[in-house]
Amino acid sequence: MGEKKGVTVWFTGLSGSGKSTIAEALEKVLKERGRNVEIMDGDVVRTNLSKGLGFSKEDRDINIRRIGFVCDLLARNGVVALAAAISPYREIRDENRANTENFLEVYVECSIEELTRRDVKGLYEKALKGEIKNFTGISDPYEEPLHPEVTLNSETQTEEESLDILVAALEDRGYL
Ligand code: ADX
Repeated sequence: MGEKKGVTVWFTGLSGSGKSTIAEALEKVLKERGRNVEIMDGDVVRTNLSKGLGFSKEDRDINIRRIGFVCDLLARNGVVALAAAISPYREIRDENRANTENFLEVYVECSIEELTRRDVKGLYEKALKGEIKNFTGISDPYEEPLHPEVTLNSETQTEEESLDILVAALEDRGYL
């Protein structure tokens, strides 16, 4: 058995859709299988690598390009790089895809109704009241992927079901 290839697993979806949760669950499985893994989480990256960036299209694009750049460096060295950021713009996600060798786009779907109901961080309520400008899905665009390798739905699937789909997708492609 040769070394397994590194890959960027790119989670995209609205805030609160479950990108980080499923990325963390996948990280655990990958580590159990002896893989090197890193998570590039939007919320975390924005406290260091992308500190100071806001939520204009320009700033989001910079953020997403940075995350893509680091994921590529990691993936080239055999790491499974998990990116969990809203990444609302299709063009920049596709740019990252084009700039790396192994890339798997995972769309984490969830309806605005359900996200507003969950509202874990209380941001949807604020956005709906107009207290947060340019909030993705409410007052700012989200361009869903047209051909993601994997689509998950945190509303209709359990975390375990989503994880099984994801692991199978990685196995099918020889990444695991
Ligand atoms: S991205 O658009 O650049 O990919 P990223 O994933 O890094 O976004 O950050 C999104 C997180 O920032 C959200 O989960 C939320 O907690 C917070 N946030 C604050 N303001 C906004 C906003 N205007 N739109 C979306 N998310 C926001």
